[in-house]
Amino acid sequence: MTNVIQKMLSLSKQDFLVFLRLTLEDNNDELHFYRVLQGLDPQNQEQFYQYISEELAGYFREQLANLEVPTTEQIREAQEVLTRSLDNLQARIKELEEINLNYREVIRTHRNFMKECISGELGLTDQTKGLPIPPPQKEVAPGAPLIDLPDPATLKLVNPDIFYCIRERESRRKYTDEPLSLEELSYLLYTTQGVKKVFRQGQMTLRTVPSGGARHPFETYLAVNNVTSLTPGLYRYQPIEHKLTFLFTPEHMVEKLNEGALGQIFVGRSPVVFIWSVLPYRGEWRYSISAHKIMLLDAGHLCQNLYLACESLGLGTCAIGAYSQTLMDELLKLDGHDEFVIYLSPVGKLK
Ligand SMILES: Cc1cc2nc3c(=O)[nH]c(=O)nc-3n(C[C@H](O)[C@H](O)[C@H](O)COP(=O)(O)O)c2cc1C
Repeated sequence: MTNVIQKMLSLSKQDFLVFLRLTLEDNNDELHFYRVLQGLDPQNQEQFYQYISEELAGYFREQLANLEVPTTEQIREAQEVLTRSLDNLQARIKELEEINLNYREVIRTHRNFMKECISGELGLTDQTKGLPIPPPQKEVAPGAPLIDLPDPATLKLVNPDIFYCIRERESRRKYTDEPLSLEELSYLLYTTQGVKKVFRQGQMTLRTVPSGGARHPFETYLAVNNVTSLTPGLYRYQPIEHKLTFLFTPEHMVEKLNEGALGQIFVGRSPVVFIWSVLPYRGEWRYSISAHKIMLLDAGHLCQNLYLACESLGLGTCAIGAYSQTLMDELLKLDGHDEFVIYLSPVGKLK
């Protein structure tokens, strides 16, 4: 056993688990940790695995199998870095506990937000005041072409049984390099945001998902990497017309998606990423302070439909709630106040 592993194992069980968590949360430390493990002989590796849960040991074995063998110098550096973090562990725990104390108030506020219900006490809402209803979708930029999408109703499903799709659905993170077809994309867009009815002179829509007060506060952006007949880049869905509008191709889109998804590289690797933004005023116009909880509930419906629709096509998706707000808003060039990213989900063919 190396000194650093011995030091880890001499921690109390609780401190050891905290150390592991903190190490794995940091991309750099995580790599150092794996290098230290790689530097152990197989017998010592097994001895270490016996100290942790079987599930975690399995996870580490899998990670190690995907890594290049480190040089002796890299192992030595990794041991030094981890020894330093171990020496600082108690100070780090203290710092984090102080943050926890400050968060008590924030947690109270967030709990109250979760209890916010549509009640009769909304004050004078903009709807009541007769202010104009916000439009149900963003306008296409002047002169920007609209891309036709195939009729979603004509696609032959791989798994047409709804019970099968609900039962088999799971978060899938491994995709092949195969492109998605435009037919598949059209079906996924329709099943998540498709418009079935437009009423009130084009100001209200009924869609394939429910939404409190039929406010439908979302826009669907697509980061297209590999879809047949579409140039890679960013697109927005125009649900009323069931068409796409091309926005632009960001430089280094794949890297930006990965950074935006906090290093979850299966996101950037997927053929297409659904990125939903919210325009909060669409909900606030009607529900004022009660709008925000409702809009978050709405967002769940979007993504659940994507899961089930993917399952019915034999495709995979995985909801992503862990992302950088700033980086994702920047990627889509959103102002981050009147419109910002709320949820994303990559889609791909299954390995
Ligand atoms: C709101 C929400 C946010 C999520 N965020 C992430 C994420 O950022 N990264 C990820 O890999 N999985 C994410 N997931 C997927 C969950 O990890 C997954 O649903 C959970 O582990 C249960 O697995 P299952 O979906 O296969 O049943 C998220 C799921 C939800 C509903």
